[in-house]
Order: sequence, then C-alpha cells, then structure tokens
Amino acid sequence: MRVKLVAGNWKMNGSLASNQGLLSAIIPAIAPFSRMKCAVCVPFPYLAQMRQMLGGSNIAWGAQDLCEFDNGAYTGGVSASMLADFGCRYVLVGHSERRGMFGESDEVVAVKFGKALAAGLTPILCIGETLAEREAGVTENTVARQIDAVIAHSGVKALGQAVVAYEPVWAIGTGKTATTEQAQMVHAFIRGRVAAADEEVAAALPILYGGSVKAANSAQLFAMPDIDGGLIGGASLIADEFAVICRSAQPAD
Ligand code: 13P
Repeated sequence: MRVKLVAGNWKMNGSLASNQGLLSAIIPAIAPFSRMKCAVCVPFPYLAQMRQMLGGSNIAWGAQDLCEFDNGAYTGGVSASMLADFGCRYVLVGHSERRGMFGESDEVVAVKFGKALAAGLTPILCIGETLAEREAGVTENTVARQIDAVIAHSGVKALGQAVVAYEPVWAIGTGKTATTEQAQMVHAFIRGRVAAADEEVAAALPILYGGSVKAANSAQLFAMPDIDGGLIGGASLIADEFAVICRSAQPAD
C-alpha cells in the first residue's frame, strides 16, 4: 500500500512574514493527519525558516531545484549537500518551469536527480507533456523519454528512493486540470514503463499528479488507482485549500 504524499510547491513566492502566517495555519491543520505525508518545497532563502518552524511537525520540507555540480566554483549554485544541511527531505527535479524557462535538458535533470539521491534527499522527478505534445499525440513518448533519461543515468533501482510527479504543462497554473481519467491513463503508463525495468520498484513508486489541483478536485484525483497524491502550486499558498487537499489524501477509516 503506497502512502499518499501531498507536496506544496510554493514556486517563487513568500516572505518571512507571509510564510510565518501560512505555516502557523497549516501546521495545526495537518497535525491530525497521520496516514498521509505532507511536504512543502520552498525558495532556498526560506529553508532555515522551514527547519525552525516545521522541525517537530509532521510536515517535511524541501527545495525546488539544486545544482548539478558538487560544492566548488559554481557561483549562484546551491548543492545537494547544502540542502541536506538544512534538513531538506525532498527536492523537486526537472520542474517544467526549470525545463522550459531555464533550459534544463533531460540529461541535466538526470544528473541533478543523481546528486539529490547521493546526498540522501528524495528527489521528486517532475515530468509531463506540453499542450503541443498532447495535441500531437506524443504524450507517452515525452514522459517515457523523461523517465528513461533518469533510469539510464542512475538505474531503475534509484527510483525506489524517489517520487515521480506527472504534471501536464498545459494544466499548470491554467485552471485546466487533466480529467481523472486522462491523469490515471498517463500514471498507469508511467508505472508500466518502470515495471518493464523492475516490477517491484514500479509497484512501490509514488506517482503524484500536479496541475491546478485544488480542494474541489483533489479527492477525485487521489481516488484513482495510480495517483498517489499531488504536487500543488497555487493552492499550496492558501492554508484552507492546502489542508483540505491533505485531508483528501488520508485513506478513509
Ligand atoms: P498549479 O497547482 O498552480 O497549477 O501548479 C502546479 C505545479 O506546477 C506544481 O509543481
């Protein structure tokens, strides 16, 4: 039985004061949920604040990116070991905004994934097709290529220490959610792709859905057999929305 995970991706939002307000509301709201996992992935400067405020809570924290190199002369970079130093459990790798706006290739994403694992972090590997790719009927080719790059670099067993997030690019921040059936089909395809290399790893692999998940649609999405939780953008910045999404990831009594 895979335990569901709900991870907030704050993207480039927040301030010390607004984070404090948001977390003060989220921490007690999530505290009773013992049968799901919750995390927030925040901008680098706020990791110290997460460690201070979330240490001792049932909310883990992580970053949204990491450098593909180890410590050294890489001005502006933030290494995997630095994230581990700040108590991160998770790090997003290959978010579509990184791939699309910052030119991250499948190969760079695969190297980052390997660096995260080597530092003891759990990478959340983000994959998904653009609208043009969906319309051209190549959704499966795209997600297969993205996952295969990681398997080629780190081996399929590495996915045993990771999380995959399927985020159709056309559903991110647009208010357009993939239908539960559309999402389930791609999730099942991803699991099948991994199963072809290792059935045990595939059966245990958490696959999150991301893209306009909100309180009003999370329960239906999370009820699908291959959807193991969500990666939440906009709605993770609203305490009540995020709490309802987390509650819907708790298995029924
Ligand atoms: P939204 O939930 O705002 O659509 O963002 C999804 C996302 O990109 C999470 O990583």
